[in-house]
This record gives sequence, structure tokens and C-alpha cells, in this order.
Amino acid sequence: MEGRYIFAPRTGGPEVLEVRTRPVEPPKPHEAVVRVQATGVSGGDPLFRAGAVPVGPRPPFTPGFDITGTVVSVGDDVTGLEPGQSVTALVKSGGNTEYIALPADRLVPVPDGLDPVEVAATTLNYFIAHQMLHRVAALRSGQRIVVHAAAGGVGIAVLQLARLAGIECYATCSGGKRDSVTELGARHIDYQKENFADVIRAEAKDGLDAALDPIGGTSFRRSYKLLRRGGILIGYGQSQVMKDGEIKKSLGAVGLLTGILGPKLLPDGRRTTFYNAWSLEKSQPHAYREDMGEVLRLLKGGEIAPIIAETMPLTDTAKAHEILERASIVGKIVLVCDPAQ
Ligand SMILES: NC(=O)c1ccc[n+]([C@@H]2O[C@H](COP(=O)([O-])OP(=O)(O)OC[C@H]3O[C@@H](n4cnc5c(N)ncnc54)[C@H](OP(=O)(O)O)[C@@H]3O)[C@@H](O)[C@H]2O)c1
Repeated sequence: MEGRYIFAPRTGGPEVLEVRTRPVEPPKPHEAVVRVQATGVSGGDPLFRAGAVPVGPRPPFTPGFDITGTVVSVGDDVTGLEPGQSVTALVKSGGNTEYIALPADRLVPVPDGLDPVEVAATTLNYFIAHQMLHRVAALRSGQRIVVHAAAGGVGIAVLQLARLAGIECYATCSGGKRDSVTELGARHIDYQKENFADVIRAEAKDGLDAALDPIGGTSFRRSYKLLRRGGILIGYGQSQVMKDGEIKKSLGAVGLLTGILGPKLLPDGRRTTFYNAWSLEKSQPHAYREDMGEVLRLLKGGEIAPIIAETMPLTDTAKAHEILERASIVGKIVLVCDPAQ
């Protein structure tokens, strides 16, 4: 049996992405092989493909941070998983593929009746949104935060989960996407027309409890300065380093130094951290399954509803990257491995 996968042999634009085919190997002990039904495209994928950020997966590689599908076979020592079972997982890279072998303990069972496309739109975005809000910032009802890139896949997830928890959000995004964030109860700021820091400072005079910032560069420092004593800046991306295909790596370094690392030296009671989906693996090894289980439970219960911007065949991954780089969509692009099913 063979399966197709996406491969970036070198850094570059979306055109470097190739569709390749490889044999499906049997699982090793402790592993399961999954036939992937749906896999997400994240705002980080174009950055890693272009080599714009210093850490994380780099070409040659297969992009994709999540997989959702059904188990086709399990290794000798695997218990609690069987062929046909629906599962989802986060992966450090390689999710954009038709078949994948993963350690069985990374696979989280998907509740019956959920659409794999909806699960794929949930697995990465709502997992990290949940962890940032509830494990890293440990926010409570009534607290106030700013959410940047608020109409993106992760941003929408943060707004939905924040609303469930009674957390008030300032949401920055371009003006055309205003309704997507106000419908979720957020106070919209068009960062292209207004200085978001001035708007927030004028309204939230006591400062913010948290800033969730995937923009990086100069944005980290500006977000940090909005915090009250006890507040936290969570940087979790560096979108500012790439615009219209042009890469400005120095902006990324300046952002980390001035917005994340520098403030750690100041005893002002405000915290900063750079988070990624694997940040808590060592300190809280149980968190992966707990938090993935929680967001799947919320999806099953209809308490969250990911916005699917587009579904596309796996073979159109390059087109999906182009769309993400234009920043024209609201929500998540999901690749479907077998559109006929
Ligand atoms: N740390 C992690 O584990 C992790 C996981 C997933 C994603 N991320 C990061 O989170 C970020 C968002 O991911 P996503 O999947 O939500 O992306 P997305 O769906 O592509 O949304 C990103 C949105 O950000 C806005 N944006 C882009 N560049 C900007 C800039 N320079 N300044 C202000 N806004 C900008 C754009 O909307 P507007 O129209 O509003 O400009 C864009 O649509 C990426 O940086 C990604 O690397 C991190």
C-alpha cells in the first residue's frame, strides 16, 4: 500500500511544495498507523516552509501540525487502540500526509459522530488556545486580555474559549474581518487604522491581565506595556517576520529580545513567555491528553464551533499556503485526504 504526502525539499515559496508517494510501513511496537482524513494548515506552516523562523521544522520536511483519521493497524505492544477507531493528534511536523505512524500514546480518541474536518480545525487551534488561557495565563472570569490576529484560526479559537470562560477580549484584526470578532463578543480594533495600544490604554486604565500575541517583532513590546502588575504576555508566533513573501528575520530577533527576554530582567511584576504547543510536555505531561480531550468534549457538546474557511484536497497544499499568506480568510483551512469520502 502507498500513500501520498506533501514534501518541501528546500526553503522557498509555496511552489516548492511537492506531492510525493511512499509505501506505508507497518507500525513498530508502541506505534499505530493512521489513515489521515483531515489535516490542518496553520499560519506557522508558510513561515517554516520559507525558513523565516529560527526554531521548529525546516525543509527538507513534510509540513502539518495535526492529523485526524482512523487507525489502520497497531504495533505489538499497543493496548486500548484498535483498527477503525477515530483519533486525532498533534505532530511536530509531517501532518500533511495520507498515512502516518505515531506513538500510540499521542493518539487521542475522537468522540463518535464528529466530522473529521471539524476535528482537524479544533485539534491544534483550540488546544493551544485552551492551554494559553487556562494553563499558562490561568485567567478567570471578568479578566481582560488582548488577542492579536483575532480572526485567524487560532484567534477565533481564543475568542470562543474566552467567551465561554467569561474573559473579556480586545481583538485586533483588519477592518474587513470586524464582524467575525464582534459576533464573538470581542471589542474590535482595526490595527491597520488605529494604534491598538492607544485604544486599549484609553479604555482599560488598570491594564490587561494577558496579551496573546502571535505577531511578534515590535508587537511583543507594545503588548507587554499594556499589562497590569501580575499580567502575562504570551508570545506564540512571529507573523511579522514575513509579509508578501519578504522575510525580515531581524524583526523576529528584536521582538524576542525586547518583548520577551528583556522584560524578564525588570522586577515589575509582569511576566512574559514564548509558548508553543509542546511547551508544557515536560512540566505537565498529562496536559496533552487532558486538554485535547477537553476541547473535543466542547466540540461534541456544541460549545465551540470552529470556522472552516475552506476545505481543500491534500494535493492543493501549496494553494492553501498561498491563501494563508494573503491573509484574506477568516478561520482555518483544512486539507482533506480523500475528498471522495
Ligand atoms: N506556538 C504554536 O504552537 C502555534 C500554533 C499555531 C499557530 N501559531 C502561530 O499563530 C499565528 C497565527 O496562526 P493561525 O493559524 O491563526 O494563522 P491564520 O489563520 O493565517 O491567521 C493569521 C492572521 O494574522 C493576521 N496577520 C498576519 N500578519 C500580520 C501582521 N504582520 N500583523 C498583524 N496581523 C497579521 C492576518 O489577519 P488580518 O487580516 O487581521 O491582518 C492573518 O489572517 C502564526 O504566527 C502561527 O505561527 C503558533
